[in-house]
Amino acid sequence: MKIAVVGTGYVGLVTGTCFAETGNHVTCIDIDEKKVEKLKNKIIPIYEPGLDVLFDRNIKQGRLDFTTNLKEGIKGAKIIFLALPTPPGEDGSADLSYILGVAEDLGPLLDQYTVIVDKSTVPVGTADKVTAKIAENAKVEFSVVSNPEFLREGVAVEDFMKPDRVVIGTSSTKAQKIMEELYAPLVRQGNPIITMDEKSAELTKYAANSFLATKITFMNEIANMCELVGADVDMVRKGVGTDSRIGKRFLFAGIGYGGSCFPKDVQALAKSAKEVNYNFEILNAVMAKNKEQKTKLIDRLKDHYGSDLKGKTVAVWGLAFKPYTDDIREAPALVNIKALLEAGVKIKTYDPEAMDNVKELLGDSITFCKDEYDAAEDADALLIMTEWPVFRTPDFDKIKSTLKDNVIFDGRNLYNTETMAELGITYYSIGRAI
Ligand code: UGA
Repeated sequence: MKIAVVGTGYVGLVTGTCFAETGNHVTCIDIDEKKVEKLKNKIIPIYEPGLDVLFDRNIKQGRLDFTTNLKEGIKGAKIIFLALPTPPGEDGSADLSYILGVAEDLGPLLDQYTVIVDKSTVPVGTADKVTAKIAENAKVEFSVVSNPEFLREGVAVEDFMKPDRVVIGTSSTKAQKIMEELYAPLVRQGNPIITMDEKSAELTKYAANSFLATKITFMNEIANMCELVGADVDMVRKGVGTDSRIGKRFLFAGIGYGGSCFPKDVQALAKSAKEVNYNFEILNAVMAKNKEQKTKLIDRLKDHYGSDLKGKTVAVWGLAFKPYTDDIREAPALVNIKALLEAGVKIKTYDPEAMDNVKELLGDSITFCKDEYDAAEDADALLIMTEWPVFRTPDFDKIKSTLKDNVIFDGRNLYNTETMAELGITYYSIGRAI
């Protein structure tokens, strides 16, 4: 099948590459000339494990190409995916200008029946708006389908190739058939394609992300309770997670969720609810609590050192909002670093992938180190912000000989509290006894 993908961000690029891998001919379109030039030269602008192999193979096989020209790119395409940004506007609602702009351009260009797919996370009612925009100038029949993505950064290729489910929102049986044909290679194991109306599909995406964000926040609240009553959140997690109605995943307490999806989507769902005069109160609590959670360890630092942290040096391990990505959007590390800099603290940091992105943002206001030990050298304390595997089993003797004070503030609960006590390291973590 011939497919076009408009937008070569992380969702667009993964979508395009994976559909090329299942034998389709995919053209990815972007207005950013520099980006398209890079892609043509086989340079992937994002870090996503496993994407490179598929990307190279499909370019070589002539199934994947790139252009800045919308008219050329969509020529002959049976399906056009819209994978465009929907950044939060000032009031928290999703900004649809990119999507509606492309929809307007597409109208006069369509020359055969085409399925246009909203892949971006868009508020309920967007499929109707896109339909109306295209219809203004379209001369042929078309259908707009909502097909939300459930890709986690870092494992996006795996999530795409082996989805738990595929959600297709359409009221057209013609479009449904075409979409089912496209996804058939990805649901061979019996993982379902769930077809529904457009609005339900749009809401499904927000409901899934907001539910997961709420699940994490709930566990962060339990962690805070654990600290007050002397319980251990890891034990509670195991105790509740084995109930299949609750499930084991996404129950890890920490320093709050970040990334480009959860914060934006929880906010957008709360805003959408408000627009229909519904007070989705639990989401307001989730947002407020997540904000508090992010700087929780700064309070611990102040408890330990006293409120004046001026002149201290803190080693920060991890900058990305989670491992296996260089993405620093809404990353807890940044919030903590900014707060510490304001308090007059010097920062030495190491992250396996995200340092270049932070350098662009913070320049030389902090010191970027060659590895985790280099960051700990002569620092007073260590602050752990991302659970990269390389931080899980460090050489503690080396750390003890490099850190000035043997104190670790761990936002990801990487270590066993008893081991830390045996090693003589003062260890603060989340939801566990000190
Ligand atoms: C999330 C969803 O998991 C995907 O299904 C969805 O498609 C994607 O958003 C999106 O809307 O595009 P992602 O933002 O890549 O994916 O990251 P997650 O792995 O979901 O992690 C989000 C945040 O939750 C991270 O900050 C992570 O550290 C935190 N988290 C996750 C916890 O604090 N505890 C957990 O148990 C799990």
